[in-house]
Amino acid sequence: MRVLVLNGPNLGRLGRRQPEVYGTATHAELAERCVGWGVDLGLEVEVRQTNHEGLMLDWLGTAADDRTPVVLNAAAWTHYSYALFDACAMLEAPLVEVHLSDPLQRPEEFRHHSVVTPHAALVVSGQGVEGYRVALAHLANG
Ligand code: DQA
Repeated sequence: MRVLVLNGPNLGRLGRRQPEVYGTATHAELAERCVGWGVDLGLEVEVRQTNHEGLMLDWLGTAADDRTPVVLNAAAWTHYSYALFDACAMLEAPLVEVHLSDPLQRPEEFRHHSVVTPHAALVVSGQGVEGYRVALAHLANG
């Protein structure tokens, strides 16, 4: 089974971006680990990252057309993008929401709301890069 792992804005700077919050792994390392976990789980995993919301919406639209399961870390868009809410609503296959940190435990109130959660089969937060393995395992077993 093919699975898309889609990462949103600023996640391309992982490793350099607030490592005390997001850890020291780079996005390339995250991608490599996801592909490896996919092999172990019998999944063909493709990892993408963008800072451009329209591109993310296009990817989600194609995933809807192709009925491809998605692991989504929409980063800050999670908290305010109604276009993202609508795109997630169109998905046909399961969606798993992932966050490296646990937004609900962070002090900024804007992080306490997610437009993705209503459409997610599972939310995995606060487990760092390992959370992506949990998300992929959920899809593999689903
Ligand atoms: C994040 C949490 C979001 O609140 C934040 O805007 C991010 C990353 C996470 O993975 O912990 O950019 O989605």
